[in-house]
Amino acid sequence: MRWSQAFIPTLRDDPADAEAASHRLLVRAGYIRQLMAGSYSILPLGMRVCHKISRLVREEMDAIGAQEFLLPCLHPAELWQRSGRWERIGEEMFRLRDRRQADLALGVTHEEVFTAIACELRSYRQLPQIWYQIQSKFRDEPRPKSGLLRVREFSMKDSYSFDVDPQGLDLSFQKHFEAYRRIFSRCGVDTIAVEASSGNMGGSESIEFMVPSDAGEDWIASCGACGYAANLEKATSGVEKATSGVEKATSGAAPVPEEKAAAAGEALGAPQEFATPGVRSIEDLARFAGGAPAERQIKALVYALDGAAALVLLRGDQELAVQKLADATGAGQVRPASDAEIRAALGASAGSLGAVGVRGLRVLADRSLEGASGMWTGANRDGFHLRGVDVARDIRVDAWLDLRQAKAGEACPACEAPLAVRKTIEVGHIFKLGTRYSEALGALFLDEEQKARPIWMGSYGIGIGRAMAAVAEASHDDAGLVWPTSVAPFEVVITAIDPKRAETADAANGLYDALRARGVDTLLDDRSERPGVKFNDADLIGIPYRITVGPKGLAEGRVEWTRRRTRESRNLDLHKAPDVVAEAVIEERSLTA
Ligand SMILES: Nc1ncnc2c1ncn2[C@@H]1O[C@H](COP(=O)(O)OP(=O)(O)O)[C@@H](O)[C@H]1O
Ligand SMILES: [Mg+2]
Ligand SMILES: [Zn+2]
Repeated sequence: MRWSQAFIPTLRDDPADAEAASHRLLVRAGYIRQLMAGSYSILPLGMRVCHKISRLVREEMDAIGAQEFLLPCLHPAELWQRSGRWERIGEEMFRLRDRRQADLALGVTHEEVFTAIACELRSYRQLPQIWYQIQSKFRDEPRPKSGLLRVREFSMKDSYSFDVDPQGLDLSFQKHFEAYRRIFSRCGVDTIAVEASSGNMGGSESIEFMVPSDAGEDWIASCGACGYAANLEKATSGVEKATSGVEKATSGAAPVPEEKAAAAGEALGAPQEFATPGVRSIEDLARFAGGAPAERQIKALVYALDGAAALVLLRGDQELAVQKLADATGAGQVRPASDAEIRAALGASAGSLGAVGVRGLRVLADRSLEGASGMWTGANRDGFHLRGVDVARDIRVDAWLDLRQAKAGEACPACEAPLAVRKTIEVGHIFKLGTRYSEALGALFLDEEQKARPIWMGSYGIGIGRAMAAVAEASHDDAGLVWPTSVAPFEVVITAIDPKRAETADAANGLYDALRARGVDTLLDDRSERPGVKFNDADLIGIPYRITVGPKGLAEGRVEWTRRRTRESRNLDLHKAPDVVAEAVIEERSLTA
């Protein structure tokens, strides 16, 4: 491609609203343009990167025996009603009506449609199968963000496996795991595979592929000692039990009067109510005279689980992992209750809630509260709290669950070494679905005994645009993008200095033809811009190699070869340049293959 003819609308300045580096640079370097919130046009340079990522994805999918499809984005409501997700998915799904008033959806994902086709698999002899497509998905994300990282319409490689039994599913899952590792490593990014929640996909097991980055929105906990890694939506950890007043008291000698014992957080015969004017939060009560540090408090939160209020208890120093609450209860829609719902459930406002004496409301408690005593909590009466609460004695807990978010420094659940917590971008996600969709939609096969059984399914996704943005996050510098050769829009840019001179033009054109003849993706910067502008643009768009062709070098029969990542330069003989550069590029292109 000749730059003079290319549409590469680079901008001098960063877009005002962009925080994430990938967002800023992909816009500035002319790869993408925003249409509306969470909706981007991909421009030619962006398409070249997406095509290269898609090509790697196709190669690796084909290598595990997957077959490519293309399914519609427009789906009949009826199919989603049969799987139960028409109701379950809620506002994330774009819904519309056709001219005959039939309900339709824009595909959030394609389990339903692929499973409907899998109904044509009749015999165990036709299994296993792996099917995939690269197709648009539509999700009405509540907070579209950071350029291509979180959008409402995006291209996804999604694949689906169909097996006769759980062992077969394990194998298909493992094949995908390895294919994903290869795909991301060929894209030039390091990923961490983490245990994840399966969310509204259902199923038993899921693994996400994460790229460490501050631009991400997923936090993971990982253990440097044993390799345990999990999304905070799923991660568990060991925490020290809140030291209860009882344990402390037993080591002390003389019994203390009740009032004093309560103030010290020790066991009382019954919870004691005390006035806490102005106390509305855990921090308030920690500062209040007669209050207690956060880890000695019981945090009580009211959540609506598919519309039904439930009381959720955690230790005051812990945060709720909302996804764990959804996973543990099977609720499809989980949200904090409104003020009115809270008052209706407990008769008090959010600053004074507790579970002591609560009846007729489901009480779900985090396991770290098990056995805690000498605790502080709200009295369900505005402006009052209780102290001396013994969880076992005073609170009727319906279910003990793992609900708290793991924190850095807490013990790894596998080996007890301290966990690290960091921010990441989820680029891929693989799920074991089991038979949920095949049963709902009737995808049955006949086994060797001619018995009809549901197909065992898995589902596997990679966002193409998000992968491009994740590579950009992982690989850029102050001057712009720095693409790994495997996914770069062009592998080499030839920067012609003063291209109006016949000598320069001839040499640059000759080099351009020679590199293309050797299969190198080459961009020829033949624009009549100042050299500084051309160098800056080449850096900004992030082409891995630049060859500078100018009068000074040509006088000595040479050109300058520069590596974008390191900025190392060396002179090459003009005539040897095509072979030397092509060899280096082709080797590097396949390095990660
Ligand atoms: N809103 C989005 N914008 C861009 N890419 C997305 C978005 N949601 C998901 N993806 C991509 O699709 C892959 C599969 O998504 P999936 O796990 O089904 O959705 P989610 O992570 O939102 O539950 C993700 O790993 C990611 O690469
Ligand atoms: Mg996911
Ligand atoms: Zn560990």
